Amino acid sequence: MTKFPTQRLALCAAIPLLAMAAPAQAQSVIGSGVPASLNGNSQERSIDFAEQVPASSALIILTENAELPDVAGLSVAERNSVAAAIAAEDFKGKQGQSLMLRGIGERPLIMIVGAARPDDKSPDWRAAAGSAVQKLMKEETELAIVGAPDPAAMAEAALGLALGQYRFDRYQYDVEKNPASQKIIIAGTGAGEAQMLWDNRQKHLAEGVRFVRDLQSEPANALYPQSFVERTRAAFAGIANVRIEILDEAAMRKLNMGAIVGVGQGSPRGSRMMIVSYRGASGPPLALVGKGITFDTGGISIKPNKGMWAMKADMSGAAAVMGTALSLAKSRAPVNVVAVAALAENMPGANAQRPGDVVRTYGGKTIEILSTDAEGRLVLADAVQYVADRYKPFALVDIATLTGSVGRALGDQYAGLFAREDAVADQLLNAAAESGEHLWRLPLHPAYAKAVRSDIADVKNSGVTDAPGASAGAHFIGYFIDESLPWAHLDIAGVDWNSSSRPLSPKGASGFGVRLLDQLARDWKAE
Ligand code: BES
Ligand code: MN
Ligand code: ZN
Repeated sequence: MTKFPTQRLALCAAIPLLAMAAPAQAQSVIGSGVPASLNGNSQERSIDFAEQVPASSALIILTENAELPDVAGLSVAERNSVAAAIAAEDFKGKQGQSLMLRGIGERPLIMIVGAARPDDKSPDWRAAAGSAVQKLMKEETELAIVGAPDPAAMAEAALGLALGQYRFDRYQYDVEKNPASQKIIIAGTGAGEAQMLWDNRQKHLAEGVRFVRDLQSEPANALYPQSFVERTRAAFAGIANVRIEILDEAAMRKLNMGAIVGVGQGSPRGSRMMIVSYRGASGPPLALVGKGITFDTGGISIKPNKGMWAMKADMSGAAAVMGTALSLAKSRAPVNVVAVAALAENMPGANAQRPGDVVRTYGGKTIEILSTDAEGRLVLADAVQYVADRYKPFALVDIATLTGSVGRALGDQYAGLFAREDAVADQLLNAAAESGEHLWRLPLHPAYAKAVRSDIADVKNSGVTDAPGASAGAHFIGYFIDESLPWAHLDIAGVDWNSSSRPLSPKGASGFGVRLLDQLARDWKAE
């Protein structure tokens, strides 16, 4: 009898301690509870602009031909030596060409980098700067970069530097970390104007992309629906005109979101819907909806192990819409957007959903689950209906690592684009051309729509005979979107992760979508 009150007392005493240690919404410890790192990534080079080339820094010279630009940082003797090296190496200034020279004059290093593109396109200052900084990741000295001919080119070069030097090394204790590197200076006439361009636009784009890459790279024991929410909330802290709405599982159940809750019910880590609106203009918003599966095992329809680790990045769409909203909000863009992350972990388990289950979605339409591995379209079904109903957007774009099929069709250079109307597809294709994040349009033929009809529910989530997988997935999402709402679907399953380094993206998380959707939002406004 006396045991009972003692236990209660002990419990009471424990509560304030727990409350102090954990954030308000934290759940009980799942997994080991031991964080694998207490550090962030090592420091990147900070980016500055200057009219004059600093005297003692390493020098990167961008050029679009075999001529040396009029670089103030070289003495006549140095210039002659560099010109001789260029001639000896048959350097033509083409994109991808570079020359690393040490031992010339006072500078620790002089690097010449080609910026000319084939097909008479204007030089790519972004890619040239990005590949240069990647080659110098282990260099500790201050860098100066010259040759970008005007302020716009200088700001683009800065974006290339920021994207190219990305690193995700926070979990590396046992090996030598990247050196704490010194700053990088972009030198040339019009530095003040270049700095202004950068501060207004590219700097925030770079931050949005970095945010997305960090989330994509995080392992799923660190990044799950609630920690995604917390990290995103922290990123938006203090930014003007931003509103955040979070739906937890109880809230989603109340709203009859049976599809997203069903996907997450095999995991002890609760599902979430995170909605971030940024109002930089009046009128209805552009809705951006992202698939946020923080890990996709396939569920009961479990995947084979080969490559399954990559399913930690199955939240790339959700990260991309949040990174876009972050970039737009930080740069105070005159646009109105609402970004939605549909977050769940797809796990097998005693309470996991089964093939054959039927779920009800937010708007009342029902889905028969044929494969628990076709889970992305399920979480999106609730998310798109909810945002269309509550936020009344003028258009909706969803972005998702939806199908292996799109990667087999398009490889790793194009994301798949689906749209009912040509005018909508053109909005996306223009933003793609402008941003350098490429899209290729794939068909939404009505014949494939029939393939998702179910015998006992309104639609089924897979088992689509003979229909191309990416198109069937697109149709499934379209079933939940009113024909009167301009809509595009982006399948990014082939482009979210780079198997090798590129000028603007080291090997690994690509951050795909931020530059594309930022451009789209700026160009496509409600009438
Ligand atoms: N997340 C996967 C798609 C994926 C595959 C992304 C490879 C990145 C790389 C998605 O949830 C999935 O499992 N899709 C299935 C759909 C099928 C069951 C209808 C697929 O593509 O096989
Ligand atoms: Mn899946
Ligand atoms: Zn998936």
